Amino acid sequence: MAWRGLFVTILVLIVLIDAFERIPVNKIKHTKKYNKKAAVEKLKQRYIKNYKPKINQKDYSENLTNYEDAQYYGNITIGTPGQYFSVLFDTGSSNLWVPCKGCPFTDFACLFHKQFNCNTSSTCTMTNQDFEIQYGSGAVSGSVANDVVCFGNTGSGYCTDKTQGFACATDEDPVFMNMVFDGILGMGWDSISVDNLTQPMDQIFANKATCPQAVFAFWLNTDLNGNTGAVFAFWLNTDLNGNTGGEMTLCGTDPNHYVEPIAWAPLAATDYWRITIDAVHVKGKNLDVPVSGSIWAIVDTGTTLITGPTTNITALVDSIGAFDDGQGDYIVSCTGLHFLPNVTVTISGQDFVLTPFDYVLVEEQNGGKSCVLGFAAVDVDPPNGPFWILGDVFIGKFYTAFDRGNKRVGFAQSKGGKGQ
Ligand SMILES: *[C@@H]1O[C@H](CO)[C@@H](O)[C@H](O)[C@H]1NC(C)=O
Ligand SMILES: *[C@@H]1O[C@H](CO)[C@@H](O)[C@H](O)[C@H]1NC(C)=O
Ligand SMILES: *[C@@H]1O[C@H](CO)[C@@H](O)[C@H](O)[C@H]1NC(C)=O
Ligand SMILES: *[C@@H]1O[C@H](CO)[C@@H](O)[C@H](O)[C@H]1NC(C)=O
Ligand SMILES: *[C@@H]1O[C@H](CO)[C@@H](O)[C@H](O)[C@H]1NC(C)=O
Ligand SMILES: *[C@@H]1O[C@H](CO)[C@@H](O)[C@H](O)[C@H]1NC(C)=O
Repeated sequence: MAWRGLFVTILVLIVLIDAFERIPVNKIKHTKKYNKKAAVEKLKQRYIKNYKPKINQKDYSENLTNYEDAQYYGNITIGTPGQYFSVLFDTGSSNLWVPCKGCPFTDFACLFHKQFNCNTSSTCTMTNQDFEIQYGSGAVSGSVANDVVCFGNTGSGYCTDKTQGFACATDEDPVFMNMVFDGILGMGWDSISVDNLTQPMDQIFANKATCPQAVFAFWLNTDLNGNTGAVFAFWLNTDLNGNTGGEMTLCGTDPNHYVEPIAWAPLAATDYWRITIDAVHVKGKNLDVPVSGSIWAIVDTGTTLITGPTTNITALVDSIGAFDDGQGDYIVSCTGLHFLPNVTVTISGQDFVLTPFDYVLVEEQNGGKSCVLGFAAVDVDPPNGPFWILGDVFIGKFYTAFDRGNKRVGFAQSKGGKGQ
């Protein structure tokens, strides 16, 4: 009996260990000045319906090629046998696309990346359905194909069937040329999906045997290089030994990488990952300034910054004591970072504290350093807004779980990285 009990226990343990898939993710390493103006423009185009860019769109597109926004990317495979693609895991959009074999020689972004070849996949069918998606950073168009999509390595078992629709892109904005990833895997909800294509996760989540929890979660190694002081998660990619910057888990959360409890916030809508946060406060010595009360927040792995309504961001910047350069950058002295107050975001009753070392972006410039806040003002009118956007400055610090099954987002203190 005892042996049998032990056997069952081991079996249960094996099942538990196998209950979710770990997908290594990397992050872009910033080498150049972060173009906040372009990033804000990209967010406006992404989130404000019928937004008309006031400035020359081309300037921004060109400038966007010079910077890399927060990018969590990792491998998927498509087809049989599987063709590898490195894709951006983007919770702020809802479509999968990869460059397509046979794209015209004018599509440099396609030529410089891996291309999906439907002809060499025994499970692929090409449809006549057109596809076009506009990202803040540029447009992508092509045709819809159907095939098997797997997370992680081929044979991981975390695969869709061959009816999974995705876009085979034959025309990409040049903005995508310099991107380190081949395509984008949208992880938002169907209501914002172009052509009503469902997300590959939906099929995987529907299989309760391999996927008991319809959840995906991100963990980033916040101090991969063993640095201390003004180092920011989004600067980190792989270390010199090629270790990955973090992981995304599919079908569960990874207890190695967070500390209980997870603060779960129910979704306010199923378009973006839209939750309601309780408050944002600036807390420091003898200082407790409410910057906003209860308000929506969108959790977006596809952006670096934290943004909020202008009223809120102005209050925030004032209480931090940053200098507004009138160009959308809020500047602080790099030598005085440890004198700046903490910023606390309260979610489902739990406080998430950002220290100045988390929210200040340090940029190397002309041999010197400049320090700007990782906050920006973005106003979105009702009914879609107003909301905050929690980008990588926040997600990069805290373990973040997206629970599709229970329609909620959870945050927890992360652990298991160097310096944590
Ligand atoms: C784009 O970059 C160029 C050169 O760095 C700069 O002169 C121009 O003002 C930038 N445009 C915008 C819209 O930021
Ligand atoms: C992605 O797949 C390629 C090709 O097999 C491999 O070289 C690379 O290390 C993988 N990257 C990650 C993050 O797993
Ligand atoms: C795929 O096969 C079709 C039909 O044979 C052909 O017309 C097309 O050019 C092929 N595409 C590629 C990218 O090889
Ligand atoms: C997508 O689905 C919605 C609701 O199910 C429908 O109203 C809409 O016409 C569909 N759009 C397309 C492009 O199929
Ligand atoms: C800011 O938060 C950090 C980490 O939670 C804490 O150690 C520090 O004392 C806080 N600073 C202030 C001024 O409250
Ligand atoms: C934060 O912004 C919201 C939406 O604009 C506004 O209603 C609220 O009063 C602001 N809070 C503060 C403290 O400025």
